[in-house]
Amino acid sequence: MDAQSWDQLSATYFDQISSPFEQEVVNPLLAFLDSLPGRENLTAADLGCGIGNLLPFLAERFRKVVAVDFSSGMLRQARSRCAAENVVFYRRSLANLVHFRGQLDVAVAVNSVLSPKLSEVDQILNEIAATLKPGGTFAGIFPSMESVLYEGMLILEKERGEAQSEEEARKRVSKLIGPRHYDFISGLYTEGEDQQKFYYSFELRMRLQAAGFKNIQLGKVLYPWSEKHSWFDFSGQPRMWDWFVRASVGRKPD
Ligand SMILES: C[S@@+](CC[C@H](N)C(=O)[O-])C[C@H]1O[C@@H](n2cnc3c(N)ncnc32)[C@H](O)[C@@H]1O
Repeated sequence: MDAQSWDQLSATYFDQISSPFEQEVVNPLLAFLDSLPGRENLTAADLGCGIGNLLPFLAERFRKVVAVDFSSGMLRQARSRCAAENVVFYRRSLANLVHFRGQLDVAVAVNSVLSPKLSEVDQILNEIAATLKPGGTFAGIFPSMESVLYEGMLILEKERGEAQSEEEARKRVSKLIGPRHYDFISGLYTEGEDQQKFYYSFELRMRLQAAGFKNIQLGKVLYPWSEKHSWFDFSGQPRMWDWFVRASVGRKPD
């Protein structure tokens, strides 16, 4: 999606977007950021800040906060949500963060590296790594392709219980999660004109390594079973997830 498409979503964000900042989501990002040593002296950036869900939290904990997004509609909402004096807003594409090169102690990107072009994904990850000071920390949330496959498997099991045959069950599933929607090799979800990138864990690790990140650790953001986050309510089963990533660049100078 381009900046104009995000502009259109900015006024009704929570109605349309499945967000890790919604209630009932188990999101390890906040505790991780809260626990960073000496954070009150650090500069943190929210890269692809959207309507500013994370900004008040960052503003209370970090010395300086840089909020970046390429959508002016999103930035307008973000400014109205967070008037803290230590937050500075920039309209920039994540594909060019030269302005912040080597300036940040902490870079956060929550479901904002979504470009369907793999070359742009790689470029953005390179740009994010380059914004960090030596020893700097990256914390990100990325849509999970494995979670999509997991949900597909649960749906197939459900349909098997209801259909006359396995063939019929498979047909019903591919109507829902068919090749029209997902490209399972490149991890792309297509809906009308819009395409969004999802990530396999092995792919995410590989791309982050290639961008220069070290100490890469993956965890999960867990979503509740609800109409908004899933096709069916599979309460009682393990939940669907986004990837929560922690990583660093280089070593802190002694
Ligand atoms: C799903 S929203 C997430 C917003 C916010 N991080 C949150 O979790 O509430 C994705 C955001 O990333 C921004 N975005 C996507 N691609 C971008 C790019 N290449 N450069 C700058 N911002 C981008 C969009 O404008 C949108 O505000």
